[in-house]
Formats: sequence, C-alpha cells, structure tokens
Amino acid sequence: MSTIIAGTPVTAGLGALFATHGLSKKTVVLFDEHTRKLYGDELLATLTHEGFLWRELVVPAREASKSFSAAYRLYGTMIEADVDRSWNLLAVGGGVVGDLGGFIAASYYRGIPVIQLPTTLLAMTDSSIGGKVAINHPLGKNLIGFFHLPELVLIDPSYLKTLPQREIYSGMAEVIKYGFIADEPFLSFLDIHFKAITELREPWLTEAVTKSAFIKDDVVTKDFREENGLRATLNFGHTFAHGLEKLAKYRHLRHGEAVTIGMVCALFLSHNLGYLNKASLERGLSILKKFRFPKGVLKRRFLDIDSKILLENMFSDKKKLDKKLRFVLLKTLGEAFLLEKNVDDKQALKAIDDARRFFS
Ligand SMILES: NC(=O)c1ccc[n+]([C@@H]2O[C@H](COP(=O)([O-])OP(=O)(O)OC[C@H]3O[C@@H](n4cnc5c(N)ncnc54)[C@H](O)[C@@H]3O)[C@@H](O)[C@H]2O)c1
Ligand SMILES: [Zn+2]
Repeated sequence: MSTIIAGTPVTAGLGALFATHGLSKKTVVLFDEHTRKLYGDELLATLTHEGFLWRELVVPAREASKSFSAAYRLYGTMIEADVDRSWNLLAVGGGVVGDLGGFIAASYYRGIPVIQLPTTLLAMTDSSIGGKVAINHPLGKNLIGFFHLPELVLIDPSYLKTLPQREIYSGMAEVIKYGFIADEPFLSFLDIHFKAITELREPWLTEAVTKSAFIKDDVVTKDFREENGLRATLNFGHTFAHGLEKLAKYRHLRHGEAVTIGMVCALFLSHNLGYLNKASLERGLSILKKFRFPKGVLKRRFLDIDSKILLENMFSDKKKLDKKLRFVLLKTLGEAFLLEKNVDDKQALKAIDDARRFFS
C-alpha cells in the first residue's frame, strides 16, 4: 500500500526518489534526541547535497513526546518557518517519532505527505507501515490519531547497528509474530537464523526485516480500516501484552517483551481451546524460548503478577468490543484468526498460568 524501499544507504539518490513519487524537495525532518545525534548531521548533509530545502525538529527520546503539547509546539515551529502545504515531513526514528511525525503530517495544513525513515527494528517492521499514526492521551495510549499512509517507507537495516540489544529483541518479537500469523516458511527461517538475525548478520537481517515489512503491508492492503478481522490478526499476543504494559506503566517493559509473553499465553490459549495441536504448540514455544529478558524484568513484570490482576488490566485494552476481550488465536503455525466468541475468564487465566510455568 505504501512504497517500501530497502537498501544501504537508503538515502542515496533521495532527490530523484522524491521526484519520482511526486514529493517536493521541501522537507521538515523530525528526529528524537538520539537519532538526531547519531544520524542527523549525515542525513541533513545528504539533503543539502541533494538540493533539498529542509528544517529540522527534535523531540525528547521518550514515549511522552507522543503528546498534544509536543505536537502543538512543533506546529508553531513549522508555522514560524513558513512551512506550508507544499512541504512534506520525514520522520527519522523509532515508533515514537514515526507516530508523532505521522500525526503532525496528517493534521498540519489539513495534511502533508509523510515519509518514514525507521531506525528501530520495531519501526522498520511494524510501526512505520500501515498508516496508523497517533499521540497518547493521559487516559490511554494511541487514542488520538489518523490513518495517514506514508508516501514512502525507507528501510535501511544498517541503522540497527547502534540500537541497544534490548530494543533488537523487542523488535524481533514482532518479526516472529509475522511468521506465526501469516507465513510458516518464514517462521522456520527465523527459527533457524534467530541468532544471526539478532546479531545483525547479513543477509539474514535484511531478509527478516524486509519480509516482515512486506507481510505487514500486505495485511494492511487487504484490511486497511480493520474491518474484516485480517488486520486484527496483527494483534496476536497483544491482548495479554497490553495488560502487562499497562501494569508496567509503559515504562518498565518494552512492547516486544510484553508481546513475547503475550504470544506464549496466546499459543497456550489456542491449544487449550482446541485450535492448535500439541506439536505446533511445542514448536512455537521452542522458538519463543530463544528470547532473552533482562535479569529481573521477567520476574517483576510477569512472574510476580497475580493472574487475575493481569486479566483485569487486559480489559482496559481499547480494542475490546462490548467489554469482551478479543483474542487472536492460531489454527496452525502460519495461520491466525480473530476469535469472535467470548473466551471464558477461566480459560484466559489458565493460559496465563501455563505461560507462567513455561517461563519459570
Ligand atoms: N503506528 C503503529 O502501527 C505502531 C505499531 C507498533 C508500535 N507503535 C508505537 O511505536 C512506539 C514504540 O516504538 P519503538 O519501539 O521504536 O520505540 P522508540 O521510538 O521509543 O525507540 C526506542 C529507543 O531507541 C532509540 N533509537 C531509535 N533508533 C535508534 C538507533 N538506530 N540507534 C540507537 N538508538 C535508537 C530511540 O531514541 C529510543 O530511545 C510506541 O509509541 C508504540 O505505540 C506504533
Ligand atoms: Zn506490537
């Protein structure tokens, strides 16, 4: 649905690429403090070299930057810099910058084009693709936003070299998720090359990243507004994960860590409800066993939590319908579906307890 371009350096020939896609060479570049420091000088020099007129914006590197007050401040800077409808916005960073940049682009002058240049594994494989852009509200995450597809998604896995290992594992959770929900051969590939990918070795890294991006794009193309249940399958493991993240106040557990635990719960639930056979359950679990959690995080953020409290927190997931929890389950490895009927609390609690035993 979006044009996805992968390469190293992906910014080579950016001027010609923009022209091909009808984008002007007037670009607001949004960074967070980390991506500005790591990649800003080089990227802005490239833009100058390619004949761009650019302005840069920088936000603090934290989830709190996805806020209305941050957006409001940036609108002001853009207005003062005479940025108008003929400009576009290039978001350089992880999901925080991508979501905030997309939100600003969707609303500024009733919408200007956004180009995503993701620099985390999660952003390359998930958040930069699909056009969901949002800021947070004190009452909930991602509640205020738009569907605003990027004109271009520029993927360059070499940016990952500076990413902390914990972030690599966090992004890897979403990568594995695509194997589980949509592509068994890809899951086998990830199983075999897990170590090489997490060590950022080529060609496995690029294969894992680009395949994930294309799977997500394909799902989004078939169900853009989440109407027929297909896009919802991207939330495999996420119903459990959202409860864990809420309990960790979105600070002490990375999203992918919560998703890893959530996928273990969802595999057990799929098996316990009679959809996924025992051999597939065990194979799925053996893949998720490869994830490493920082010492203490798993214990404090999952193993020490009462299952009933976790279940209660899952109910605040905004994706609930009529206060029923919606679960994405697997029929088999590589095929997911959104379960329409209600799941008994007892079954959800049993899946959490099974997962707890798995991690203990
Ligand atoms: N729009 C969507 O469809 C979608 C999907 C999933 C997640 N999200 C959103 O994405 C956000 C999480 O994204 P994230 O995990 O990328 O987190 P993030 O943007 O906070 O990035 C994580 C950290 O890595 C740093 N960083 C980024 N690139 C780096 C690099 N190359 N080298 C070193 N450090 C680097 C950042 O500065 C930050 O400190 C959440 O707000 C979530 O809601 C959106
Ligand atoms: Zn996710």
